[in-house]
Formats: sequence, C-alpha cells, structure tokens
Amino acid sequence: MIERLIRRFYDTVRRDPELGPIFDKAIGDDWEPHLRKMFDFWSSVMLTTGRYKGQPVPVHQRIDSLRPELFEVWLMHFRQTAEEVCPPDAARLFIERAERIARSLTMTLFFRLDG
Ligand code: HEM
Repeated sequence: MIERLIRRFYDTVRRDPELGPIFDKAIGDDWEPHLRKMFDFWSSVMLTTGRYKGQPVPVHQRIDSLRPELFEVWLMHFRQTAEEVCPPDAARLFIERAERIARSLTMTLFFRLDG
C-alpha cells in the first residue's frame, strides 16, 4: 500500500505546475532512488520499521524555492492520493501523519525563533 500510494503521489506531484519543477530540478531523471527512500521513510513513519535513516530538515533547507504555501499544495495532493489509494481508515492515518510532519517541517524551516 505504501508503494502504491507513494508512486501515485509523486506521479501527481511531478505534474503539478509549482511542485513539479522543484522535484525535477533536485531529482533529475532517475526517480527510483528517491522513491525507494520515500518507501523507507513511510515504512518508518507508519510501521516504525526504522528503515529510513535520513535527515529531512537539511535536505529541504537546500531547496531555494520552497515556501510555506507550497506545503498546502503538497498536502492537497497527498490527501487526494491517499483517499484514492487506501481504505478510509488507512487514508486517515496517512493523512494525519503527513499533516503533522508537514507542520513540524514548516515550523523548523521557516519559523525558527533562534535564527
Ligand atoms: C526529499 C521537496 C514536503 C519528506 C525531498 C526532495 C525534494 C523535496 C525536492 C529531494 C531532495 C534531494 O534529494 O536533493 C519537497 C517539497 C515539499 C516537501 C517541494 C513541500 C512543498 C515534504 C513533506 C515530507 C517530506 C511534507 C514528509 C511528510 C521528504 C523526505 C525526503 C524528501 C523524507 C528524503 C530526504 C533524504 O534525502 O533523506 N523533498 N518536499 N517532504 N522529502 Fe520532501
């Protein structure tokens, strides 16, 4: 379910006029390594498998054109894809986690009090 959700989500995100260029610039043509990393990430988040060992904050700090409003666009696609791919209970759990992580990422990236 994670693989189906994540593949479909990034298919959609790549076609978004605002998000698509950001991902294409960072990732280029070879999407499989990014997708595999994201399977691991969501496996860790949803199933506490510990498969993801990265650091999302510095990775997103390096993306110049990232703005807080874009996280709303990201979440809109995520909600829509989760509802299409997952049974309702699972969709709700994925969406809750995504919203929580998006909120904590935006707080860290854009609203740090200690500069
Ligand atoms: C990696 C963009 C929101 C989780 C990336 C990368 C891009 C990106 C371009 C690849 C960077 C690289 O490999 O150089 C964005 C944009 C977002 C967004 C434009 C919102 C507007 C999120 C959210 C989450 C997330 C909400 C979590 C729910 C991750 C993770 C990675 C990643 C785990 C892998 C980091 C690593 O390399 O370990 N993101 N992202 N992103 N993103 Fe996001």
